[in-house]
Amino acid sequence: MQGAIATGWGIAVPDKVLTNADLSARLDTTDEWITERTGIKERHIGGTTSGLAIEAGREALRRAGREASEIDLLVLATTTPDAIVPGTSATVQNGLGIAGGAMDLNAACSGFVYALVAAHGFILAGARRVLVIGAETLSRITDWDDRRLAVIVGDGAGALVLEATDGPGELLAWDLGADGSLRNLLYCEHGGYLFMDGKEIFRKAVRAVVESSLATLERAGLKPDDVDLFVPHQANARIISAAAARLGIPEDRCVVTIDRYGNTSSASIPLALADALDSGRLTAGSTVLMSGFGGGMTWASAVLRWGG
Ligand code: UT7
Repeated sequence: MQGAIATGWGIAVPDKVLTNADLSARLDTTDEWITERTGIKERHIGGTTSGLAIEAGREALRRAGREASEIDLLVLATTTPDAIVPGTSATVQNGLGIAGGAMDLNAACSGFVYALVAAHGFILAGARRVLVIGAETLSRITDWDDRRLAVIVGDGAGALVLEATDGPGELLAWDLGADGSLRNLLYCEHGGYLFMDGKEIFRKAVRAVVESSLATLERAGLKPDDVDLFVPHQANARIISAAAARLGIPEDRCVVTIDRYGNTSSASIPLALADALDSGRLTAGSTVLMSGFGGGMTWASAVLRWGG
């Protein structure tokens, strides 16, 4: 049976770094509050979603040793597209010189895992190589006078090249979910700013990550103890700790990058994944569990045996 494996990865973040001290200088907040309540110390701000996606995509292609002309499809997860029309993926296709198709996918902070699962499906349907990118510029839809959101958001992008393989692929199981009755917990109307009911999302997020992760592991015939590395959406360090504790996954198996990047929505999991790959924490044969949640409300988990 044909499966898919990741052969390259890349990230991009804007040059401009905004520290907690920078935010405290203009908002009624402190480094102490932000660090204790979120785990964030700094975030990168700026650029465009397409620009960051192109940079991350180029790096992933270089690592995979592939030309853009060899890519059959680009799936771009974003909740902050450059424009309503055209899809930002088309701009990225043009910027990279991808020969195949390009589509946007919006599942908010769950977007990257949705895109990853979709990409595996396209490979089973006959695509040979799919570029999956999560890219965001949340700073553009943030009210910088709203201290509840301004301290959380960050911009960035992460990309993976997925390739068809004749051996067993790396995706062992997945779980995708949505509950649109919860739309008012996190939304941004056209032309408006992001609104978030932080407390309620926090509660729902922990439950969603735990239930979705357990469902995914069960489908793969695995237990939390089998997970070598947990790569959760980086929304709040306290959500990651609470979910990991309930799953019984020790903290030293969790990837946490929120201190450097803030909450970058659909870019957060690929940014964390790249960090684990660059530091050698994620290697061939590792069992990696990813789990995201966010506006919609949506949630998404996938368990992979890295390298197939
Ligand atoms: O990406 C996916 C979706 N998003 C999430 O998953 C985010 C989930 N939620 C969260 O991460 C947390 O709810 C926040 C970090 C957003 C907020 O933390 P919290 O511990 O839930 O704080 P809170 O909203 O309950 O506010 C506690 C207090 C309030 O003051 P009072 O009413 O107790 O006097 C807030 O006004 O903290 C105040 N506060 C702040 N103080 C200093 C809120 N924001 C700030 C701030 N600096 N930036």
